[in-house]
Amino acid sequence: MFNKKSVEDIKVSGKKVLVRCDFNVPLDGETITDPKRIVEALPTIKYLSSNGAKVILCSHLGRPKGEFNAKYSLKPVAAKLSELLGKEIAIASDVIGEDAQAKAAALKDGDIMLIENVRFHKEEEKNDPAFAKALASLAEIYVNDAFGTAHRAHASTAGVADYLPAVCGYLIQKEIKIMGDALEAPQRPFVAILGGAKVSDKIGVINNLLEKVDTIIIGGAMAYTFKKAMGGKIGISLCEEDKLDLALSLVKKAEEKGVKFLLPVDSKATTAFSNDTPVIVCDSDSIPDNYMGLDIGPKAAEEYSNAVKDAKTVIWNGPMGVCEFSNYEGGTRAIAEALASSDCTSIIGGGDSAAAVEKLGYADKITHISTGGGASLEFLEGLELPGIACLNNK
Ligand code: 3PG
Repeated sequence: MFNKKSVEDIKVSGKKVLVRCDFNVPLDGETITDPKRIVEALPTIKYLSSNGAKVILCSHLGRPKGEFNAKYSLKPVAAKLSELLGKEIAIASDVIGEDAQAKAAALKDGDIMLIENVRFHKEEEKNDPAFAKALASLAEIYVNDAFGTAHRAHASTAGVADYLPAVCGYLIQKEIKIMGDALEAPQRPFVAILGGAKVSDKIGVINNLLEKVDTIIIGGAMAYTFKKAMGGKIGISLCEEDKLDLALSLVKKAEEKGVKFLLPVDSKATTAFSNDTPVIVCDSDSIPDNYMGLDIGPKAAEEYSNAVKDAKTVIWNGPMGVCEFSNYEGGTRAIAEALASSDCTSIIGGGDSAAAVEKLGYADKITHISTGGGASLEFLEGLELPGIACLNNK
């Protein structure tokens, strides 16, 4: 049960409110190539502004390593916010310095401003108490709406809550509600689709989901560690040799729990990590010596799509193949198409699979695409997220 106070549980009128957003958006120079995270932050910003709060937005962008770097300035975000909100959003030239303080002090009820990238201070990622206190001193209330950064215990995502009343915004509420409901009371069959390169990145998620789902579908390069562990010949496919025992133990656990554990029966393979070398389709158990699997094959894509069609709830994290290469996007596309044409509750846990679905044009057919990559993964692992744990209980 999510029992954290939200913006609606606290009087914000006339108050200075520090709002932590995740404006860590992809940039091409100064152009934001996907504004989803900004768009998703708007309901909270609009609520606060229209209820008379003086809104001070903050975020990180990229990993500037604790010092000012113009490349990671939030200026493009301020411009995008101005465009989306239809009014000029001022940005301070610093984070907790004179300009931020002066601009915050001059805010009128309903005004919105942005301070610079909190990661321009090395104290941010160290969750330094003095830095958190200085951030807190800009405001009277703290709102965390940065779901995508809620797995980080940093000054602006957690530390600041020690000094101010702390509540969540609508985005955090929405993310936790949709993913939490799916995990706690799913409509069945409940299917999890997990892809990506490494088993080691997904151990926690697989372990937690084995307690909850009816079927786990495995794709991406991590499938080959499982295949090898089960005695298959995987050629030169990516494999975590030190995770073979672990992979077997996960397969065994699935058997014990009565969870269907699907590995790709066939693969698309080639001789180099390239889109230019000839592609073969082969059994995933007998990949020729000098070949590597880069995508699930057509039989696997059909089997997986059928499992998706029968499901009532699907959680998907990680692509099925190297979908940045056109030859190896077929598996990911098949899953996206199956999800798009199903009326199941479909949830995509941020990161690469979210980007793939956007790119393939199916995003509007998905029930929920999380704004958090790492954060949604940790949530699906059943871990407590520090950016949420620090908020006041109802
Ligand atoms: C993300 O993009 O996953 C979040 O914004 C967190 O960024 P980080 O991995 O640099 O902490």
